[in-house]
Amino acid sequence: TKLDMELAAIEKGGYDHFMLKEIFEQPQTIFDCLRGRLDATAGTITMSGIEKYADELVNTNRIVMVACGTSWHAGLVAEYIFEELCRINVEVEYASEFRYRNPVINKGDVIIAISQSGETADTLVAIENAKNQGAIIFGVVNVVGSSISRASHAGAYTHAGPEIGVASTKAFTAQLAVLTMMALAVAKKKGTITEQRYQTLLKELEAVPEKVSKLLKSVDGIKALAEKYKDAEDFLYLGRGFNFPVALEGALKLKEISYIHAEGYPAAEMKHGPIALVDETLPVVFIATRDSYHEKVISNMQEIKARKGMVISVINEGDEQSISLSNDVIIVPEADEVIAPMLSVIPMQLLAYYIGVARGLDVDKPRNLAKSVTVE
Ligand code: G6P
Repeated sequence: TKLDMELAAIEKGGYDHFMLKEIFEQPQTIFDCLRGRLDATAGTITMSGIEKYADELVNTNRIVMVACGTSWHAGLVAEYIFEELCRINVEVEYASEFRYRNPVINKGDVIIAISQSGETADTLVAIENAKNQGAIIFGVVNVVGSSISRASHAGAYTHAGPEIGVASTKAFTAQLAVLTMMALAVAKKKGTITEQRYQTLLKELEAVPEKVSKLLKSVDGIKALAEKYKDAEDFLYLGRGFNFPVALEGALKLKEISYIHAEGYPAAEMKHGPIALVDETLPVVFIATRDSYHEKVISNMQEIKARKGMVISVINEGDEQSISLSNDVIIVPEADEVIAPMLSVIPMQLLAYYIGVARGLDVDKPRNLAKSVTVE
């Protein structure tokens, strides 16, 4: 009815789709996630779940991230962050594999379960099994009071608010914000981070909402790219280091929303297979913001260019080398490499969204997908 349609429009807050609304909410949701926890001026991170298990987190020999889908990608980014800042061995597991393969779990191992819904069946059973074997379970969950949050010993909510679009967007950046704060808190207690780097990263984190706002002002450019590339049959997404999981997430978003086949790969691993796909019809998205891997990413870009692939690069301002190798560029604000994924993922969300819309698809409810997979 007309009333239903009007109600739906109100719920979407003036946006055409929930997905777009949720992408645009990110300055606020990241802010909400940091609020009351991060105080860059005082140099403190306050998270009660962390404090409760501080000794266990500082002394553990191993952290296992367990998740599915987009949440699994957040776990991958967190692997890089925890290893870098806390010097703790981290493994990232697909919940469905972890739960069935009789994994080695030692007393004192910390399992971090990452889940937007808190109801994903594989993730829930995986942590219940690990809990029975003596692991400490930490939940990074969006939905308050959900099954995974209740099954965890401790946790931190992502506070992103209800996510309606099937493809996860704002929950992902909130997961990264929580996991980064956790890593910083543990690194500080453990003494594996210098005071200066700690202070810098707190300030960088605090600046994320504003940088996201700035980034969201450049949607017109991404819309134009969507029009240009919407008929591609395949896409390749490449990144290294902290941005490698962003390449995976970019490819996943595109598959989910536009039904275009896409693969994400570590940029160097591309030589071991995907490079055979490269010709003048293949768009290759490089997540290539300035970081310690940058020179290496540029040489991978040269390799794609030499084979006539169409390079779309996500870069920082003034990166002339990347610009000269790219058919198209998307500029994102500069950030420390630990923080960069929270920014570089946003154009990936937008590109998938606008391509889906350009192809006339139901971006909020893509075929065959469920918001939360509560059965096997
Ligand atoms: C489904 C959703 C994805 C989500 C994944 C994990 O596949 O469509 O968007 O990333 O489940 O869900 P969770 O709620 O555990 O994060």
